[in-house]
Amino acid sequence: MNVYSLVRPFIFQLDAERAHRLSLQALRLLPAAAPKPASPRLASKVAGLTIPNPIGLAAGYDKDAEVPAHMLGMGFGFVEVGTLTPLPQSGNPQPRLFRLVEDEAVINRMGFNNGGQVAAMPRLAKARGRGIIGVNIGANKDAVDRIADYATGVAQMAPLASYLTVNISSPNTPGLRALQDEAALRDLLTAVRSALPQNPPPVFLKVAPDLEPADIDAIARLSMGQVDALIVSNTTISRPKLASRYADEVGGLSGAPLCALAQTRMADFWRATGGKMPLIGAGGIACAEQAYARIRAGASLVQLYSALVYEGPGLAQRITKGLDQLLERDGFSNVTEAVGVDVR
Ligand SMILES: Cc1cc2nc3c(=O)[nH]c(=O)nc-3n(C[C@H](O)[C@H](O)[C@H](O)COP(=O)(O)O)c2cc1C
Repeated sequence: MNVYSLVRPFIFQLDAERAHRLSLQALRLLPAAAPKPASPRLASKVAGLTIPNPIGLAAGYDKDAEVPAHMLGMGFGFVEVGTLTPLPQSGNPQPRLFRLVEDEAVINRMGFNNGGQVAAMPRLAKARGRGIIGVNIGANKDAVDRIADYATGVAQMAPLASYLTVNISSPNTPGLRALQDEAALRDLLTAVRSALPQNPPPVFLKVAPDLEPADIDAIARLSMGQVDALIVSNTTISRPKLASRYADEVGGLSGAPLCALAQTRMADFWRATGGKMPLIGAGGIACAEQAYARIRAGASLVQLYSALVYEGPGLAQRITKGLDQLLERDGFSNVTEAVGVDVR
């Protein structure tokens, strides 16, 4: 019996953003558990990082790096905090976070609400050594020069990050996704590289699922040699058929209805990069079978967020256990052997 299924109806009575805030506050009251060792079959080296298991926490749950060690203790193999912007900002007016219960989905238009990079620094310094903690960086909404904001984020956060994620795919900062266009992306990646300090952490680029084939090819081409991995993907502005009354809320859709699109985009990027660049899959992953399918489509690692809302804190451990069994069933001695096997 999953305890979370008993408390879920009470949590769902609360406004989604309030429930999210309360979950962070509750975690902070508890000591972070030490991560349990995962099956050696799940351990891999990706972009130079030693990752104990390939199930990660996606950006957006712990924007301000309040509980990264707690999330590692819950069984995630790596945790991404952020998006953090150079200056603190309050984000869009509330309500801006919606549970689409019938669809097992979420729509958000948070707009990079966060306390700013500098405020997160002492918390990240304290969590150092607890595991792989990536820092996702973005631009302030009012920034005159968005690319300069990324350069600031890279320079400030690199010393505290296991890896950096350059997030240019949030739909909730007007114009941000335009940085995925070829000329802008070239300038951005040049600025990011020149802002990196000595001994830099790996740099990942997080893209949207709402891309045309030509965009995918351009991103793959420009990223090669400039970034260490691509995260595919952020939330979608598309709206597959949805049952919830919140279906038409403006913002990015995530969770179950994003799964098929994100799975397709993973295979697209695997083909576009010729399997030569590590890919990290995110979008609608809620069980071991979906994590496994994403890996077989080209993901070296996966991340999730929305399914935590519906499945609760035991999810990472359930998925890692199930994934280990699926890999064993199919005769893989290590997860790396399964990467991309369905697309080759
Ligand atoms: C409430 C919410 C806030 C998010 N905030 C961020 C963010 O700040 N930065 C980011 O890169 N992605 C953010 N995301 C996107 C997730 O990291 C992830 O890419 C997306 O939700 C797809 O995964 P999922 O279906 O498992 O949630 C957010 C998602 C949600 C639901």
